Formats: sequence, structure tokens, C-alpha cells
Amino acid sequence: MFMIPRRWAHTYSGEWRDIARWSTGDDAWAPAVLDEWEHAFATFVEMPHAAAINSGRRGMAAILEHFGIGAGDEVVAPAYTLGEMLPVIQATGATVVPADIDPDTMNVTVDSIARRVSPRTKAIIALHVFGVPCDMPGIMALARSRGIRVIEDCAHAIGSRLEGRHAGTFGDAAFFSLEMNKLVNTFGGGIVVSRDADLIARVRQANAALPCSMDALREKIRTTRIERMLFRTGLAFPLLYLLATPRFHALMSRSYRGAQDVRRSVYRYSSVQARLGLAKLATLPERVRTRSQHVEQLRALLRNDIRIQRVPEGAEASWYFCTAMLPRPAAPIRKRLLLHGIDAAVEGEVMDNCAQLLGYTDCQNTNAVYPRAIALPMFDGLTEANVERIAKALNRAI
Ligand SMILES: Cc1ncc(COP(=O)(O)O)c(C=O)c1O
Repeated sequence: MFMIPRRWAHTYSGEWRDIARWSTGDDAWAPAVLDEWEHAFATFVEMPHAAAINSGRRGMAAILEHFGIGAGDEVVAPAYTLGEMLPVIQATGATVVPADIDPDTMNVTVDSIARRVSPRTKAIIALHVFGVPCDMPGIMALARSRGIRVIEDCAHAIGSRLEGRHAGTFGDAAFFSLEMNKLVNTFGGGIVVSRDADLIARVRQANAALPCSMDALREKIRTTRIERMLFRTGLAFPLLYLLATPRFHALMSRSYRGAQDVRRSVYRYSSVQARLGLAKLATLPERVRTRSQHVEQLRALLRNDIRIQRVPEGAEASWYFCTAMLPRPAAPIRKRLLLHGIDAAVEGEVMDNCAQLLGYTDCQNTNAVYPRAIALPMFDGLTEANVERIAKALNRAI
């Protein structure tokens, strides 16, 4: 392939055939398979319960509802996260208060959260951004002393650990994402874990109330195949070049994000997806190990002024993204990388500056990271030769 894509949805050999076979008849909605998947996931992260739902976002909405978050409450959330998470919190009537990040780990810290806590704070959203765990023991101590609930956003963190425990096992509840480019890709979906059996029952009820349809799954498979065809034929290049060109950026970026939008696809999490989850969870630890090796290889090859996201001591990252801070704005560098056949993400394609979206100007680290962060290619199937090519091109581009 001429280009190295920034992402490549994980599929195993024979997956399309399996999906076609599993999608026919009542078997596609067999509750026993869903139970098996939820049980396997809970066992994997070492939690008593897990419940699958349509998306990570819906998982978070169910958690907020269960915790009774509403008008007059404040929810402290990372200043550097997916902008689409803000309306999910705001829909409860609560106010979102952004907490700044550490520029090296790109995660919220106990101090940055403590600065935003008020008597009205009812919940903290602790995100393990790009799969690098945040300081859960510290955040839990702060929250417990104030009677605040903690929700772990593990959208990027399947396979991440801290002090030997999986991300998602520290807070009052956690949600994971099973979208197309996540480490466990079930072509959409989310999964909630908690020790609270009533919350889990609520999530299961919410999923069961959704209509049964394979349309969303089919659409996501189609999107994946189109994306692959664009890279294999080289047609991705002119499209990405337009995305990297300021005049066309807004238009291209809208269609890019639109392809990932889950609002159109509010269907029940199916047994087909559960079966994919079971198959992909089995290979996850090995895939995380390979990603870590590639990140370490990159760290060793890159110039000193290109700083890959720092992993705190005692933590193991899943490396959903491999993000680095550049010594200068990332957008022009991305364009130069493209000319070397390397696709990378910058600015809002990496994460959003939610402090800015909410009208806050005091999250200085987020303001500094947002324009200089670059997400380099990271996917299962990346090779050592690819990593060398990425490092060489980025060093030269800087
Ligand atoms: C930080 C973060 N939180 C939550 C989500 C939501 O996950 P989903 O797309 O499954 O709703 C995402 C999606 O990528 C995300 O990046």
C-alpha cells in the first residue's frame, strides 16, 4: 500500500463470512449469546457485571440517569475529550465544568479536578485518554471525601491497566466503546461495567427496549470497506490532502466525523456483535503487546522534541491512539507527512478542546496541547518497517 493509514478497523480472517452466517434468522438476537459476551467481558476486566448497549455514549447516558444527575448539578469532565460527550451530559440538565489536563499524560489530574469541584459537583468523568490510564486512586480519594460519583470513560481503554487492575474497575461505573476503530471492534456498541447490579439491570433494559435491525451493522461494514478501498487504490490521498488544506478542512472534517456518527443507528446490540466481541477479546492482550512494542520503537527513533504521550508509573496503556506533542503546530506537519504517504490526525480529529467549546479560557495545558498534538498511525497490522518510515518522515518534517 502506498499510504500508511492512521487507522485500520480490526477484522479477523473469515470475519465477513461469519457475520453473514450469524446475521440470518432469530439467532442474530439470541439472548444467550449476549449473556455469554457480557459475562466474558466482566470476567476479562474482573468485575461482577457488564451490560452491552448501542454505544459508549448511550452507556454514559444510562449511568448519569441512574446516578440521578440533573438540573442544578455540576459534572466535572476533561477539557480534552470528544466534544460529542458534552450534549450527553447537558441533556440531563447538569452543567459541564471542564478540568484541565497534564500536558505530558494528556489526562486530567487530581489537582485539576479539585480546582473545579464545588458543592454542586455530583459526578466526575475520568477519561483514560487514548488508552493511557489516569490517576484513578487519587481521583477516587478526592471523590470519596466529597461524596461525588466517579464515572470512568474507558472508550479508549479496553486492555489498559493501572496497578495491575483494569481501567474501568476503580470508579462507581465505567463505559467502554466497541466502535469500528476501537481495539475490540464490534462495528458499534458500548459496554457498561459496575458493581451496582441495579445500574446493570437498567442498561440491559435500555438495550432491550431498542428496535432490532442489522442496518447499522451493515452500514458500518460498508464504511470500513470503502475506507479500505480508498487506501488500497490510493484514492484516499486526494481526499486526505483536501482535509489537510485549510480551505476545505471544515467540509471534509464534517463528512469524516459524520461517518462515525452513532445517532442515526439506535438499534439493539445484537448477538452478531456479541460473537465478534468474544472472538476479538480473545486476541486483545497480544494485540496490545504489539502496539506497546511499536510505540517504544517510535519513542526510540523520534527526535527529543517530539514527545509521545507519557504513561505514568504502574500503568499499561492500550494505545488506542499513539499521540505525540510536537514542538510546533501539527496541522502543517500533517500535510508534509501526507506527502510521504503517512496519514495522521490533528486538532479536532484527535480530540476536542471542550474547555473552549464551553467558553472557558483558563485550561492552559489543553489550549497548548490541542494545536500541537498529532495522532500517528496505530492499528493492528502496523509493521516495524511502517514505524521506521513514520519516524523518519516525522523527524524530517519537523
Ligand atoms: C473520549 C470518548 N468518550 C466516549 C466516546 C463514545 O463512544 P461511542 O462512539 O461508542 O459512543 C468516544 C468515542 O470515540 C470517545 O472518544
